[in-house]
This record gives sequence, structure tokens and C-alpha cells, in this order.
Amino acid sequence: MLRAFLSYYRPYRGMVCWIAVGSFLASLLELIFPLGVRQILQQELPRGAWMQIVWICLGLGLAYIANFLLYYAVSYQSGVLSARVENDMREKLFIHLEHLPFAFFDSSRTGQLLATLTGDTAEAGELAARVASDLLVCVISMLGIVFILLRLDPVLGTLVTLLMAMKGLHTVWINLKLRDTFQATRKEFGRLSALGEENLNGVRMVKAFTAENHSIHSFIRAARHYLQARRESFQVRAYFGASIGLFTNVVNLAILLGGTWRIRQGAMSLSDLVAFFLYVGVFIKPVMRLVLFVETYQKSMAGFRRFYALLQEKEETGQALPALPPTKGTIVFQNVSFAYDRGQPVLQHINLKISAGEKVALVGATGAGKTTLVNLLLRFYDPTAGKILIDGHDVTQFSRTSVRKQMGLVQQDVFLFSDSIAQNIAYGNLTGNQQEIREAAQSARALEFIQEMPETFATEIGERGVKLSGGQRQRLALARTFLKNAPIVVLDEATSALDNITEARVQKELDTLTQGKTTILVAHRLSTVRHVDTLVVLDKGRILEQGSPETLLRKKGAYYQLWQQEAELSQQVQKKEGIQDECLCCGN
Ligand SMILES: Nc1ncnc2c1ncn2[C@@H]1O[C@H](COP(=O)(O)OP(=O)(O)OP(=O)(O)O)[C@@H](O)[C@H]1O
Ligand SMILES: [Mg+2]
Repeated sequence: MLRAFLSYYRPYRGMVCWIAVGSFLASLLELIFPLGVRQILQQELPRGAWMQIVWICLGLGLAYIANFLLYYAVSYQSGVLSARVENDMREKLFIHLEHLPFAFFDSSRTGQLLATLTGDTAEAGELAARVASDLLVCVISMLGIVFILLRLDPVLGTLVTLLMAMKGLHTVWINLKLRDTFQATRKEFGRLSALGEENLNGVRMVKAFTAENHSIHSFIRAARHYLQARRESFQVRAYFGASIGLFTNVVNLAILLGGTWRIRQGAMSLSDLVAFFLYVGVFIKPVMRLVLFVETYQKSMAGFRRFYALLQEKEETGQALPALPPTKGTIVFQNVSFAYDRGQPVLQHINLKISAGEKVALVGATGAGKTTLVNLLLRFYDPTAGKILIDGHDVTQFSRTSVRKQMGLVQQDVFLFSDSIAQNIAYGNLTGNQQEIREAAQSARALEFIQEMPETFATEIGERGVKLSGGQRQRLALARTFLKNAPIVVLDEATSALDNITEARVQKELDTLTQGKTTILVAHRLSTVRHVDTLVVLDKGRILEQGSPETLLRKKGAYYQLWQQEAELSQQVQKKEGIQDECLCCGN
């Protein structure tokens, strides 16, 4: 794990060296002051060499200024380094997420992913700077101090060094405790973000069902769990912080006792004792920094572990495969079966041949597997058994992007970005110019409403397009497909949100769009698929019937029944409306 973390430094080796050298010099300078004091007390003061004392003070002053400059430069460079490492991690993670398969997103929570993308990477980045500066400073200062103390007086020096070593072991122990608490904190934070994201996203539904209290309670519960996790980590931190004070005092006591004993023995001078005390003062600084470092280390590693776990998720396979050559549009499903979760078949033994330029409609009850079939064709998922062939090529032999490039899709649940209308249409073809976007909007019968918008094509449509009506959103999605102009067109309930008149108009345009193209339509309203070449009736993941609408009607099978049900329903509705109209007339 640490090796994986350190690999993020590689591009910044120069910077790391710079910080290391700067920190090294700064910590050496820290060690000079007690030595100067000792020199004055031991040599210059008894001799009364006033000028020497002034020179030594001047030297110390210069050392402090140099220390200040070094410290400033090192802090600045460390900050930049940590921001860069953080940014690299974030970019890498986002690119990775974009390449993960659909199945991954089916079972993850967006809020949790966001927490890692923003929070965890920030935590991990913070460590980057501290390793290069703090850790070095601490280690160098502490080793330097030990060396000087042993030289000042081997006996007292050994005693203080032993105490320091004990503190070191203590720190390692605390380190392990902190790791667990920070791990728990990051986990709770991820949960909290996911819950917040979901509840804010669904705030309209929450209000409609007056479930605000439920929403608030579940958020508060998650927030309290997070608070509890943090409280536990504060406990360990507070104990750690307080123990430093205790440690300093114990060391001071040991020096006082041991030092006076050594002076009585005549083995040490008073000025050495003063130097010892001063060094303990200097020593506390790196210890404090070490505390901070240990804390940051554990916090950052907890973040890095979550980041790293996401990076280990397998990307969509076959990205390096060759591109599917431009297709004529013949599609064959060869004994295709599929299950989202193991053991729960959603499609079973699907055999379907769609010739180039053919129009096929998939009909069937809700949950029959129509959208799933479309998902397989676009390779959002791969069949668990069987093959899908396009122009005779097995699609798994080609890159997924190249397969998707040949298809224009309008999904059942339209997704729009909180961007301008033009940008949203442009997703169909990011190289399309304004004129093409306009034409696409015109074909999708969207131009009329766009022109009534305050800033026409530049109008921002809000998150997921909330500022638009359902039908308007669907027309933008259609415009995207018009702009893409791919040889295979897949429309999953693409006109279900439109009123009858607009639908009839869009239908006309769709006929032009799909002219000569292979088209797969998914529809609940059978009236909208009367003119297709082939109808496929799906039920519980199997094909019940397929053939031209006329043949299937004559066959009086499953399609005939669906058709009859729809006809009866519309007759009932007409009758009801007729009665209401009559009543209205009577009332007049
Ligand atoms: N991402 C998923 N993970 C697990 N199961 C899923 C997933 N998507 C759909 N299913 C299940 O697969 C079955 C078929 O769903 P599908 O969306 O293909 O139906 P559909 O025919 O398009 O229905 P509708 O007419 O309502 O759109 C359903 O039982 C559904 O619960
Ligand atoms: Mg569907």
C-alpha cells in the first residue's frame, strides 16, 4: 500500500529532493541555539569576552533568519506538492471511474464515490507533503539531538535517549489505534455523503410524499454515527497530545535529578545541564510534528486505502480491441441469455435476426426484458451465454466504444446535464456545429419550445433538466440521436412522454431519421409501432412471437391479445369521455 502511495511522488522527484534538503538544513539550524548558549555560559561569560558573545548572538540571529527563509520555502513547496499529488490522484480516479462497467455503478452509491473523489484524495494528498518535510525534519532533529546529548554527557544522554525510545514505541502503539479510528471515520463519512446526496437528489419525491421527517431522521442518524466515530478518534488524539506534556515533564525531571547528581560527581558542568534543558525544549518541536505526522499519516492512509480500493475495480474489458468497421446494420442475437445477478435469468435463449434497414419493435409487459435486450446490444452488459453479431462479427471481438459509436440511443429514463440546451444536444456528436445542433433540434420538434426559452439554445436547464417538462426532456434526448445520425437507432420508449399530436409529428421525423437504418423500437403503446417490419413479443425474458404486425394479428396469439386489450381500453376511455361531454352539454 505504501509503495503504491509513494509511486505518486515519482513525477515530482526533483521537488521532493528540494523539500528534503531544505528541511534537513532547517532542522540542522534548529540545533545551533543550545550549542551557542552553552558556548557563552561555559567559555565566553567566565572570560568576560563581551564582543565574542555579541558575535555569537549575531551568528544565531542570522541562523534564525536563514531558518525562517528555509521554512517558508519548504512549506510553500510542500503545499504545492501535496496539491499536485492530490490532483493527480483525483484525475486518475475519475478517468478510472469513467471506464468502469455498468454493473459497478449498479451496486455503488454516487455519494460514496464522490466522497472518495473529493475527500479521500484530499486526505491522501496531505500526506504527500508531510512525508517529505515533517518526517525528515523529525527524524533528523531527533537523531541530531541524541548525538549531541550523548556527547555532552554519555550517562545522562543515554537516560534521555532511552526515554525518547520509549516515547517512540508509545507513538507506534498509538499509531495503530489511530488507524482503526480513522478508518471508521472515513467509512462513516462516505455513508453520510451518500445519504446526503441521495436525499437531496430525491428532495422533490421526499416532499411529494411528505417524508421530510424520515429523510431528516436518517440523515441525522448517519451524522451522529459520523460524530461518534470522530469522537473516538479525538479521544485517541487527545490522549496522544496530553501524553507529550507528561513526557516532557518526565524528561525534565530525569534531567534535573540525573544532571544534579552528575554535577555533584563532578562529571558535568552547570552549562551542560542548561544545554540539556534547552535541547529538551528543541526536542519537543519535532515530537509535536511527529504527532501531527502520525495523525495525518493514518488519516491519509485511510483515505488512500479507499481510493486505492476503487482503483482496483476492474475496468470494462476489451478497450484495446480493434474498432468495429462501419456497419450496414445487420444484428443477430444467437441464443442469448443474461442475468444481472447470478441465478436470476432476465433473458433466456433469445434468437433474433434483424436485417440491415429493418424496423423492429419490442413489445411486452413491463419487466419482460426489453430494456435489458437493448443494454446488451449496446454492450452495457455482456450476455451470460450466446452471442450478438453485427454484420456477422461477434461484438465481443471489438472495442465497446466502437460498437456504441454505431448506435443512436434514446434511453427510457432520459439523462440531461445541468448545462445549456445546446451542450446537452451536442453530446450526440461533440464535433457538431451550431447549425447541425439546430437542425437536430428542429427534427426532434424541439425548436419551437427552445425558441421560447429566455436564452434559446444557451438556456441552462437545471440539474438533470428539472426546468423542462418531461416531453421537452425527451425531445432533447431525441435531438441528440438525430445529431449522432448513427446507422443503428435504438429508441426505448422515446416518445412516451409526448402528447399525441407532438408524438405524431416526431414520428414523421423519426421515419425520416430511420430511413434505411436498422431501428429497434421499444414501446408500450402498440399504436406507435403499427408500421414496423417486425414485431417481437417478449414475456419473462423469452420471445413469445415474432413476425409482421399483420401476420401476428392473424395468428391471434400473444400480440393479438395485447392489441385487443389496448383497443378495448381506448374504447372504454372514449365512451367515458363521450358521456362526460354529453353531461357538459346538458349542463349548458
Ligand atoms: N441493473 C439491474 N440490476 C438488476 N436487475 C435489473 C437491472 N435492471 C433491470 N433489472 C431486472 O431485469 C428485469 C427486466 O428489466 P427491463 O428493464 O429489461 O424490463 P423492461 O421490459 O424494459 O420493462 P419496462 O417496460 O418497464 O421498461 C426486471 O425484472 C428488473 O427487475
Ligand atoms: Mg424498459
